[in-house]
Amino acid sequence: MLRNVKDQWWKAMVQSRGDVVGIDSAIIQARAVWKASGHEDVFTDPMVECRNCNARLRLDKLDDPNQCPNCGKRDTFTEPKNFNLMFKTHAGPVESDENLVYLRPETAQGIFINYENVRRTNRLKLPFGIAQIGKTFRNEITPGQFVFRTREFEQMEMEFFCRPEEAPSWFSYWQDQRLNWYTDLGIDSDNLRIRPHGDDELSHYSAGTVDIEYAFPWGWDELEGIANRTDFDLRQHTEHSGEDLRYYDQESDERFFPYVIEPSAGATRSMFAFLMDAYQEEEVAGEKRIVLKLDPRLAPYQVAVLPLSKKAELIEPARKIADSLRSDYMVEFDETQSIGRRYRRQDEIGTPLCVTFDFDSLEDQAVTIRYRDTMTQDRVSVDRLSEAIASALAG
Ligand code: GAP
Repeated sequence: MLRNVKDQWWKAMVQSRGDVVGIDSAIIQARAVWKASGHEDVFTDPMVECRNCNARLRLDKLDDPNQCPNCGKRDTFTEPKNFNLMFKTHAGPVESDENLVYLRPETAQGIFINYENVRRTNRLKLPFGIAQIGKTFRNEITPGQFVFRTREFEQMEMEFFCRPEEAPSWFSYWQDQRLNWYTDLGIDSDNLRIRPHGDDELSHYSAGTVDIEYAFPWGWDELEGIANRTDFDLRQHTEHSGEDLRYYDQESDERFFPYVIEPSAGATRSMFAFLMDAYQEEEVAGEKRIVLKLDPRLAPYQVAVLPLSKKAELIEPARKIADSLRSDYMVEFDETQSIGRRYRRQDEIGTPLCVTFDFDSLEDQAVTIRYRDTMTQDRVSVDRLSEAIASALAG
């Protein structure tokens, strides 16, 4: 499912656009990159320690800044310390200061340091974007809430370079695009909102940020940030590396630093929201049915092939059908327990279609397609199955 979320993002942000290209940059990056980007100095969270139970906590996430949520005691916190979230390691065999490197805490810097190579080799003209999906590492003080906050996660980021005067309109354009991406893939729009950052929340590089938030069980919380990073990063890297990253506009004969609009989403966090939004409990014939009404593009399996009984005369042809579908779909094959239980199992993992091979199939060369959401069934001949599946999944 995570792979499907990432594939859908890539399709929307890179494949279907003529103005965005993709890269895959290094995870371990030189200290100089993180000095230039400002992360070494300011990528910190305020940490306090409880003198009573020794819990270490993020001050800005506490409901009550004077009460420890771990032991309940009041006024036991130490003075807040700024804790840098970057993981350190050493490149090469010597653990010296000169060899200090960091695991990236955002994929974005890999885009900025490759910006000029990518622009030149792809002959890109403003406005254009460079996108990347990849692992990101943050030494979070308080990871938790399933995969909402982890120390190792995946980001889906795109840096969209434009003329400075066009930045405000691209900023609002990308907010619309990104909100639509979530609703198109099935999230109820009532569970999404856009929240602008207050001045005190803005990252060190941002002239304006909004969060796309989802109504998680604990309240509204961030799914994705969309920031106007101005020309901060290209200027910083120019200053620190000596490489002139200004853009030359032939028509106006001007040289300037482009501005950057950055939609930055968490892949793992988005997957979590899609899961939560798709989860439903229904009553069917007096029994509870749990069903994940996932968009077929996100479901881990699109089709389950279920032989009605474990008899070899059904298993073998059913397996053949399953194998014939594998080049186009993720296919489950399940031969255990009653057919009713197997349907429920597929409902719970969000499989949109079940294909049942029964004793009649041996005679009429047809199978039953059962639809997850409506639980209705159709009889389809085996030689038309692939076509029927494609049309059912396309909605
Ligand atoms: N380049 C900008 C940037 O990194 P961010 O708001 O710090 O911005 C972007 O991170 C997204 O990455 C967040 O909206 C969230 O979805 C995801 N994210 C951040 N920290 C995370 C963590 N510890 N665990 C899971 N996802 C995280």
